[in-house]
Amino acid sequence: MIDSVSLKPRNHALIVAAGQGERSGLGLPKQYALMNGLPMVRHSVAQFLNHPNIAKLWVVIRSGQEDQLHNALAGLKGYQVVLGGDTRQESVKKGLSAIAAAGGSENVLVHDAARPFLSNVIINRLLASVDQEDAAIPVLPTIDTTINVVDGYSADTLDRDTLWRVQTPQAFDFGKLMRAHELWPDDINASDDAQIFRAAGYKIAVVEGDETLKKYTTAADFAKPSRHNMTQIRTGMGFDVHQLVAGEELWLGGLKINHHKGLSGHSDADVLLHALTDALLGAAGAGDIGDHFPPSDPKWRGASSDKFVEFAVSVIKQKGGSINNVDMTVICEEPKIKPHREAMRQNISNMLDLSIDQVSVKATTTEKLGFTGRGEGIAAQAVATISME
Ligand code: CTP
Ligand code: MG
Repeated sequence: MIDSVSLKPRNHALIVAAGQGERSGLGLPKQYALMNGLPMVRHSVAQFLNHPNIAKLWVVIRSGQEDQLHNALAGLKGYQVVLGGDTRQESVKKGLSAIAAAGGSENVLVHDAARPFLSNVIINRLLASVDQEDAAIPVLPTIDTTINVVDGYSADTLDRDTLWRVQTPQAFDFGKLMRAHELWPDDINASDDAQIFRAAGYKIAVVEGDETLKKYTTAADFAKPSRHNMTQIRTGMGFDVHQLVAGEELWLGGLKINHHKGLSGHSDADVLLHALTDALLGAAGAGDIGDHFPPSDPKWRGASSDKFVEFAVSVIKQKGGSINNVDMTVICEEPKIKPHREAMRQNISNMLDLSIDQVSVKATTTEKLGFTGRGEGIAAQAVATISME
C-alpha cells in the first residue's frame, strides 16, 4: 500500500450530509451532533479543507438545514453547499452534478459526514492509489467469526479471508463515477458508490482503512463518545508560605518533625498540606483554602491541616471527580526533608485514598537565597490532577 501524496492538483471532495440520522435516535440529524465538542460534520470538512491536495470541497445537505450547516462550520471557509435528495445515492448524484456543472474534476473523494474522524493518512493513501487505478476504497478485515443466520438460527460459517468491511472516503475517477451513476437504476438502493462503480464494469483497488474512521449510526455509537467527552482531566496548583520561629511545633505533610524551630500560623501551619489543599480546590474550581477556612474564624485555631485536605477531597467527590495524582515540593534549607519523605507520602496517600505511587513529595533549597535560604520560613508548591465526569 502506497502512502505518498498524489501530485495531481484536481481532486475534489464530496461530503454527503443530507441524511436524517433516524437510527441514531438523537432527535436531530446526527451530522450536527457534538463529537469531541464539535458538530460531527465539521471534523471531516476541516480535514479536507486543510489537505493541500484537495482542490475543492462540496458539502451536500438537506434543504432547510442551511443555517444549521453554517453554524456548524462557523469560521471555516472554502466549501460549496449543494442540496441533497431523499436517499444517499441521490445526494451523491446531486453533488456530482454540481461538480460537473462547475467544470468537473479529475478525481472525486466521496465521504459520509457520519464518519467524522478522517485522517490525512487515509486521504493520502486513497489519492496515491486512485492515481494508478480508476478507484480506491478503504477496507478493514473481518476479525470475528462471521456466519449466515437464517430464520434466527446459525447457518454457514463464512470465509473471513474474503470478507472485508468497506469505509469512506471512496476515491474515483470523476468522469467514470458520473457515468456509473447515470447507468445505475434510481429505484435500486446501492449501499455505497463502489457498488455502483463496479456495476458499470470498472475496477476498484482496495487500500487499508482505519478503525477510527468508523461510521456513527445507532444510539449505542453515540453513547460512547459522549460519555468519553464528559470526562475532563483538570489540574490545580497550590502555593503557601509560613514563617519559621522558635518555640513552635513543625508539622509538614501531616508529620511532626523534630526541629529547633517550627512554623507559625493560625492552624498547625502545615505549609505542605495547605499548598496541597489549594491545588485540590483549584482543580475542582472551588476557590482557595482561605475561602473555606478563614483565618479570622477561631474554629480553625491550631486545627490539624489534614482536615483541610479531607474537605478538599470531599468537594472533588461531590462534584463527581477523582484524584489521579498529586506532586509537591517543599522549599527550605532545614530541616532535611529526605528522611521524612516516605512517611509524608504515606500520610498523604492515606488522606487522599490513593496508592503511594500517585503521591510525590520532593524538596529543594534556594541556595541560601531569599527568606527560605535564610531559614526565615518554609514554602511549598503542589500540583493536583483530577478526572471529572
Ligand atoms: N445521506 C445523505 N442523504 C440522504 C441520506 C443519507 O446525504 N438522503 C448521508 C448521511 O448524512 C450520512 C451518509 O449519507 O453522512 C451515510 O448515511 P447514514 O449513515 O445512513 O445516515 P442517515 O441516513 O442520516 O442515518 P439513518 O439512515 O439512520 O437515518
Ligand atoms: Mg441512511
